[in-house]
Amino acid sequence: MSNLIIIGTQWGDEGKGKIVDLLSAEADTIVRFQGGHNAGHTLVIGDQVFKLSLLPSGIIRKNKIVVIGNGVVLDPWKLLEEIDQLKSRGITVSTDRLMISENTPLILPFHKDLDILREQKAGREKIGTTGRGIGPAYEDKVGRRALRTGDLKDVKEVKRKLKVIKAHHDILRVGLGAPGIDEEKLINELMIVGKKINDFIKPVWKILNDQIAKNKNILFEGAQGSMLDVDFGTYPFVTSSSTNAAAAALGSGIAHNKINSVLGITKAYTTRVGEGPMPTELSDDIGQYLAVEGNEKGTVTGRDRRCGWFDAPLVRRSCLLNGVTSLALTKIDVLDGLEKIKICVGYRIEKEEFTDFPVTTSLASGLKPIYEEIDGWKASTVGLEKIDQMPKQARAYIQRIEELTETKVSIISTGPERNQIIFIDKPF
Ligand code: GDP
Ligand code: IMO
Ligand code: MG
Repeated sequence: MSNLIIIGTQWGDEGKGKIVDLLSAEADTIVRFQGGHNAGHTLVIGDQVFKLSLLPSGIIRKNKIVVIGNGVVLDPWKLLEEIDQLKSRGITVSTDRLMISENTPLILPFHKDLDILREQKAGREKIGTTGRGIGPAYEDKVGRRALRTGDLKDVKEVKRKLKVIKAHHDILRVGLGAPGIDEEKLINELMIVGKKINDFIKPVWKILNDQIAKNKNILFEGAQGSMLDVDFGTYPFVTSSSTNAAAAALGSGIAHNKINSVLGITKAYTTRVGEGPMPTELSDDIGQYLAVEGNEKGTVTGRDRRCGWFDAPLVRRSCLLNGVTSLALTKIDVLDGLEKIKICVGYRIEKEEFTDFPVTTSLASGLKPIYEEIDGWKASTVGLEKIDQMPKQARAYIQRIEELTETKVSIISTGPERNQIIFIDKPF
């Protein structure tokens, strides 16, 4: 048995999708355990490009079982759209391949309304959410009024719960100038969508535990990144789920001690979408260079990603918080053309120095990075498949990242395609 969690160590978009797709070859089952369709994972396989939001990235490999766990918030209409898109590309998502937990909370249209209305009203205080209703759906989950996948089989339960939800949301909607929820319409829509997804809904916790007992390999696919975690991220500029590795157990129904390793995905520089502190952000030509060379446009919202140098204390903290056993370093090729490369090794506010990324956002907002500079390698690493083909300076950069994050690099990604990869160690 070997169970592996893959998580992002920065602010998301580290290239998790590519690595999950790659390692899915060795997994029996791939599980999403948090987040929702705020995630955007791009996979490049030969001349085909797949963009996934909700379905685990293992779905592209035909004989794999994929799971949406209870820790996810699920928009059932978006799920069906994604299934249809894949179908049109020759990938069928049948009930023997996709399983959804019975206790997965739903994202409903009024969650999206609330997300967007609040962001509009917040003006300069906005979070810069993806506008998918993620935050409001998690609020209803912990508020103990969420409609969950398993409820869709029982119209009486849907009606009863919607009354409670309506009572809560209509007050919020009035305050934001929106009309009340049309309960009848929503019940009808839920019954229709329920018929289409009911057969996917299963006791996932039990099935996963049975698989573990049979020594199957399970890969847990994190969305977002450790810096977007609701507790340890740059709060309040975070998402509304726990993005850290421990959430894999809670968000799928297996015990934490059934996990063998955690692979942290790390971009060779830093990016972020949305508002909030980012100490190494570059607003100069180099920031622009990274954005262009790295094609740093959001998969979900098409927004430009903010770009900056690699922030080592930030990734070191993520490695600790997540129990990262090794790192997959992605997009090293994006740095190929640079004369000089900087690595953030600490922070300063006036005369005070910080060696760790602080949890308090007001502190994080004021951090000035302390940099170390190395010479660039000025040679192409695109598509390299062996470590000894790497330019010496590129190897020195990777080694410095290992030292500063106190974590080994087991995989290096040298391009967007599935086969543009160097394995140093096998993480499974
Ligand atoms: P995720 O959300 O973590 O799965 O990452 P995204 O898919 O949102 O963003 C990563 C982007 O970088 C995608 O467009 C990938 O195709 C691309 N990508 C992944 N690894 C590499 C790499 O090593 N080099 C380059 N140039 N692009 C990569
Ligand atoms: P993947 O899985 C990058 C960011 C949003 C915003 C904040 C809150 O592709 O790495 P939300 O809609 O979740 O309430 O938005 O979180 N965000 C992401 N940034 N990659 C993601 O996912 C993200 N999912 C959410 O931009 O700043
Ligand atoms: Mg993404």
